[in-house]
Amino acid sequence: MEVGMRESLTNLRQLEEQVKRGGSEKAIERQHKAGKLTARERIDLLFDRGSFVELDLFARHECHDFGMDEKRPYGDAVITGYGKVEGRLVYAYSQDFTVLGGTVGMRHAQKVCHIMDMARKTKAPIVGLIDSGGARIQEGMRGTYSLLFAENIDTSGVVPQIFAIMGNCAGGGVYSPILGDFIFMIEGTSQMFITGPSVIKAVTGEEITAQDLGGSKPQSTIAGNCDFVVRDDKECLQAIKKLLSFLPSSYQEKPPRIHTGDKPDRCDEDLIDIVPSNPKRTFDMRAVIASVVDNGDFFEVKAGYARNILTGFARIGGYSVGIVANQPKVKAGVLDCDASDKAARFYQTCDCFNIPIITLTDVPGYLPGVSEEHKGIIRHGAKMLYAYREATVPKINCIIRKAYGGSLFAMGSKTMGADMVLSWPSAEIAVMGADGAVSVLYKKEMESVADRNEFKKQKAEEYREHFSTPYWSASVQVVDIIISPSETRPYLVKGLEMLWNKVEERPLRKHGNIPL
Ligand code: HXC
Repeated sequence: MEVGMRESLTNLRQLEEQVKRGGSEKAIERQHKAGKLTARERIDLLFDRGSFVELDLFARHECHDFGMDEKRPYGDAVITGYGKVEGRLVYAYSQDFTVLGGTVGMRHAQKVCHIMDMARKTKAPIVGLIDSGGARIQEGMRGTYSLLFAENIDTSGVVPQIFAIMGNCAGGGVYSPILGDFIFMIEGTSQMFITGPSVIKAVTGEEITAQDLGGSKPQSTIAGNCDFVVRDDKECLQAIKKLLSFLPSSYQEKPPRIHTGDKPDRCDEDLIDIVPSNPKRTFDMRAVIASVVDNGDFFEVKAGYARNILTGFARIGGYSVGIVANQPKVKAGVLDCDASDKAARFYQTCDCFNIPIITLTDVPGYLPGVSEEHKGIIRHGAKMLYAYREATVPKINCIIRKAYGGSLFAMGSKTMGADMVLSWPSAEIAVMGADGAVSVLYKKEMESVADRNEFKKQKAEEYREHFSTPYWSASVQVVDIIISPSETRPYLVKGLEMLWNKVEERPLRKHGNIPL
């Protein structure tokens, strides 16, 4: 019997409609009851209305074991395609937990690989919305996940890879998102771990809930795998759009410059009094950041992890920038292993995507102590030095209060490749703090003086006045410009304008060998 075009079309539309409904009504109801949107609802919220083009809707697995020949849903538990997010091309995949538990079989993986390949070729970001039981057990060991890992690695640094864990992310599945650039997690509904609570109990005897093991809290505050925590699916998809707005589509582009309405020459007199005169008293570096960036909008990355250093995106004079700032409120802003890892990773991320790096420095040094030494502060601290030096993007450091020793190099000195170093006039810039320096320099003399404390105080004062002022640093070109705190924003804007077309080549080699 001949089938006419209209009838074929009706069949196509009916089938499409059926496939696009996803899993069973019961499974969808379960998804909603858990506080989660379905895979398709997520895609609809991510993309500009009507712009999403779905690929491989009718792809199916070819597994026959364990009764799987009876269960061959079209789409194979993942929606893949491309569309516009705020007018820019983006690729995305959304795992459908209502179909085969969103598990990753060979077809599923090949669908994802297809769009990752397209994203690389057409130079557009990729967003993965993860909600999956992991590798599909019925398909056996075919190296399925490693196809994804290989794509993630090949795509690294080419286009941004953004992942949202919107349910389960278990087993080998965790290594795909972590090989990308950013991970979002949702409070209460998302969890990621290589082995769940039951396996852990069997192996080590430890008892823990899935949320306590791999929920957004431990992943964002202890493990440091999660970059952003959001309250629900909707907020997550909004936040992904915001993150995309700071990023270029690929390493070949600069990030978009946006008119934010905040005046580039805006000064802030309040900054003059923000640093307490007593060096032992603390202040909130977030207030400095809020003052200098456009409209106070700081999009923090890894806010809950290594809180002694702040990392995040903002705009200054409309330029997208990455900010790394010591936080004196937490551990006096010291650099420890975790803070070094966090900052080094962020330097690298900014450099991958041509985002200028602004550092705001108030750092007492690398953290001394047995546990830090044994944890490997030498190696971890070196990552910061390496990543800062390696970054070829515009780099401006503003010294806010103090910068001692090697920690200044990690935050950005001229010798490490900073393009511009600004300093507030009361800053203390030195090889080490005055008290420590005096203990070394005058060790012998101190043994014979009558009033040791007074001697120490006086010598520390001399040391401070002689060596630690920004004027001394400016005299040896460690500092370029001493500025009023109130003028920090205009100086940063002018610096960014001057550096916008900066080109810096790195020495030729296969690749460097960062101390990982
Ligand atoms: C096949 C799976 C599956 C899997 C879930 N399902 N995980 N099917 N392979 N890995 C199926 C379930 O049988 C069920 O099918 C449906 O998906 C929904 O799962 P439920 O268990 O009913 O949901 P829930 O109670 O919410 O629990 C979700 C879960 C749990 C915590 C993710 O399903 C689970 O623990 N799954 C296994 C997780 C895991 O260990 N993955 C690692 C796989 S090995 P029906 O038909 O009943 O709807 C791996 C190694 C890769 O990833 C190696 C690469 C290096």
